[in-house]
Amino acid sequence: MMVVIKVDKEKQILTDCKWKTYGCASAIASTSVMSEMVKGMSIEQAYHLTPKDVAKELGGLPEHKIHLLGSGRLKPCAPQSTIITAKNGMEDKITKEEARIVCQCMNVTDHEIEEAVLEGARSYLSLQEKTKIGTVCGQCKEETLRLMDVYIGRHFGDRK
Ligand code: FES
Repeated sequence: MMVVIKVDKEKQILTDCKWKTYGCASAIASTSVMSEMVKGMSIEQAYHLTPKDVAKELGGLPEHKIHLLGSGRLKPCAPQSTIITAKNGMEDKITKEEARIVCQCMNVTDHEIEEAVLEGARSYLSLQEKTKIGTVCGQCKEETLRLMDVYIGRHFGDRK
């Protein structure tokens, strides 16, 4: 997936969003809808657009396809967005949250847990397969499960 955004420097909004996605119909539809949604948004608003927002705009997606939205949002484009905003003197337009290490043994952060959830992790085991979190002393398990619930709720609605 490739996304290119055009930003009006004076108004500080996204004026255009072009994209190219290779994948299934759900991935293409998600990217298309996302590209329309971000037009007129501030960089801050676009950065915080979630898969849940895109799925709602689409009128819903089958659960097994929602993970695709993880790659259909702008947040993974953050490094590119940072480059774009830096080039335009707009570095302060995106509020970045500092990553916090949740698993000291494997050096896994809360951002990595969130990314794994967006990529389809729905159980502690699947999260471990993606990140190796909790595979040494296990002291991080309780906090990890709490964060998984938060991220699943934030991006995909309630877990149950
Ligand atoms: S703190 Fe996560 S395995 Fe030790």
